Amino acid sequence: MNRETILKTIDLSKSFGKFKAVENINLNILRGDIYGFLGLNGAGKTTTIRMLLGLLRPSSGSVTVFEKDFAEHSLEIKSRVGAVVEIPAFYPELSGMDNLSLLASLDSNSKNGGVEEALKEVGLSNRAKDKVGTYSQGMRQRLGIASAIMSQPELVILDEPTNGLDPRGILDVRALIKKLARERGMTFLFSSHILSEVELLCNRVGIIDRGKMIFEGTTSSLIERGEGRYKFVVDDAKKACSMFAPGWCECRILSENEFEVNLDKSAVPEVAKTLVTGEVKVYEIAHAKMTLEDLFFTLTEEQPAGVSNGA
Ligand SMILES: Nc1ncnc2c1ncn2[C@@H]1O[C@H](COP(=O)(O)OP(=O)(O)OP(=O)(O)O)[C@@H](O)[C@H]1O
Ligand SMILES: [Mg+2]
Repeated sequence: MNRETILKTIDLSKSFGKFKAVENINLNILRGDIYGFLGLNGAGKTTTIRMLLGLLRPSSGSVTVFEKDFAEHSLEIKSRVGAVVEIPAFYPELSGMDNLSLLASLDSNSKNGGVEEALKEVGLSNRAKDKVGTYSQGMRQRLGIASAIMSQPELVILDEPTNGLDPRGILDVRALIKKLARERGMTFLFSSHILSEVELLCNRVGIIDRGKMIFEGTTSSLIERGEGRYKFVVDDAKKACSMFAPGWCECRILSENEFEVNLDKSAVPEVAKTLVTGEVKVYEIAHAKMTLEDLFFTLTEEQPAGVSNGA
């Protein structure tokens, strides 16, 4: 089933003076996605997100949301999108509820009852009347998410929603995003520099490195890229690796008895046969699945000329 593209950028770019912070970014967010926008510090995530939300004018390129050009339909689009960019700012002397009510009163799109429901949704009902100054960082992040969802948007854009949270807070925010996606049918785009987070939470991923997209596709297609790494347990790893002709396959010795190679599955029997024929004792052949972290560094080291597309 083809899902509708609800946010699309074409060659979106932003320069600050001569510095190209974001260069020809092509993002495609489909309805129902939990889309992870992944990149290291300074990669250009916040700059991109600010352009998606009309908070920063692109140097070139376009943003289309709900199949409408952002520049021409910004008011309508903004009414259907909720967002938290960087650290959400609230009045510490006001309660969580009063902060949200104030924001709602400034927002012509907000719906009656949205505040209480949003607070309930993010699990803050019992602290809603306490001053925000007394909230933990995790609670503030959740209040930020409440502010983004209170007008019942179709698309929610969050810039590093788990930044600065402890493991418990991170789990809470992840669970919240999953729940909102499932129960409310909201589409999420969130940025992160935590690879495992994206693997756990997202169905689709875009990776940005130094202002350029180096991957966009499904999380599973990204993980598949790292498949094809095999670990061998043998009696003599050095001897085993000396049997591979240079250029046939890259061999990494892990210990006296273990080595790893990148291989196509179809080549595994041939390698095993070569080892056995050469009188290396083979005790174990294991499929070593790459982590997203390995993949990220592989992709950024490769620096391909074009974007590698995984679906
Ligand atoms: N207003 C600005 N003027 C000049 N340079 C800027 C400006 N805003 C961002 N930059 C630069 O653009 C690059 C991308 O910054 P950006 O904040 O988008 O990165 P990021 O991926 O969000 O990083 P982080 O993970 O640290 O939040 C950085 O080198 C940053 O210094
Ligand atoms: Mg940022």
